[in-house]
Amino acid sequence: MISVVSDIYNCNVIELVKIHNPAGNITIVQNGDYLPFNVKRVYYLYDIPGGSGRGGHAHKELYQLIVSASGSFDVLLDDGYKKKVVNLNRPNYGLLVFPGIWRELINFSSGAICLVLASEKYSEKDYIRTYDDFLLWKSSK
Ligand code: TYD
Repeated sequence: MISVVSDIYNCNVIELVKIHNPAGNITIVQNGDYLPFNVKRVYYLYDIPGGSGRGGHAHKELYQLIVSASGSFDVLLDDGYKKKVVNLNRPNYGLLVFPGIWRELINFSSGAICLVLASEKYSEKDYIRTYDDFLLWKSSK
């Protein structure tokens, strides 16, 4: 399964439901809508100092939806063969990241909040922490 889905062309930006309201909008993500996984964990990155980068790893099994809940940032995606950069800057769009994709998050705007919906609870065993290990892992698939 990994070899089929672990292609950056599958990592697309999805438009999420937005309920417009003059008093403030609402965006909803719930299991069964949009996502090829059920959400088991939510986390968010915030207070990110200017110039900092996050990510710099891949996951073996984890699916994620990455949303810019506030501000903007770039996500660099790399499937071991191809690379692309996705800019996230609106809270009603989410980037679907499949397992087996190297990702780096850069160019955070001041006050940016990166919201992540994930298919599994935290497991360090699911991480591939170095790019060399990632390429080795990909070549074994
Ligand atoms: P990590 O995913 O490596 O952050 P990033 O790639 O964005 O720089 O996580 C940073 C630290 O936080 C790491 O030591 C593990 C811990 N962590 C958890 O304990 N639970 C979690 O759900 C996440 C995402 C991280």
